[in-house]
Amino acid sequence: MTVAIIGGTGLTRLKGLEITHREVVHTPYGEPSGPITHGVLHGREVLFLARHGYGHTIPPHKVNYRANLWALRHLEVTRVIAVAAVGGISDAMAPGRIAFPDQIIDYTWSRHHTFFEHDLTHVTHIDFTHPYDPTLREVMIQAARVAGLDAVEQGTYAATQGPRLETAAEIRKLLRDGCDMVGMTGMPEAALARELELAYATCAVVANWGAGLRSEEITMADIEKNLDEGMERVRTLLGAFIPS
Ligand code: HPA
Repeated sequence: MTVAIIGGTGLTRLKGLEITHREVVHTPYGEPSGPITHGVLHGREVLFLARHGYGHTIPPHKVNYRANLWALRHLEVTRVIAVAAVGGISDAMAPGRIAFPDQIIDYTWSRHHTFFEHDLTHVTHIDFTHPYDPTLREVMIQAARVAGLDAVEQGTYAATQGPRLETAAEIRKLLRDGCDMVGMTGMPEAALARELELAYATCAVVANWGAGLRSEEITMADIEKNLDEGMERVRTLLGAFIPS
């Protein structure tokens, strides 16, 4: 039951992780975002991978999602916690809060989004009705409650292409579509995890209000400040979650 954490923007290193070693994994799909970090967090074995690379140099549309997930599966990971920065759309999604989405709408394009491409013996359609693993979500929700983190316990994640942020009209459209938060990395990561039968769930960290909702401009300084606050919550969450 090895747990892996994929860290997003603001989480390229996991504070408190006692690193045992780093492992380079080559995959049939190319190179992952970096070596996989093996370590011990709160007494339990955990693997960690920085989605955008340890120097945060890989933009969302260039992340090799297939290689990342294949590498984790290869290392016998069964559960993946994906930490991801998002923009808040619905009223509850205030900057600095954390959220556990339960649905996704995919607005990305032209990313390598499946393992089922070549050498197929038959066409495979995975069930994706509930894109996040319900059990893993529940464990995170309970851990957040115990830790008093005031997390948003459900919501629809809009996966956009990036790397630019959205226009105000795009955010209004996402709101009409029923989206609560918007990020650039949720897909195809979640679907690829399902294809590999990994239990996968996201802990979103709200970095800013979606474009046009509360301010005229979104600045990197604001994003960084809110992410620092949110990532502190993520660390508390992982502390409450990992021993279980
Ligand atoms: N939009 C898309 N992705 C994001 C945002 C946003 O406003 N903030 C952090 N990731």
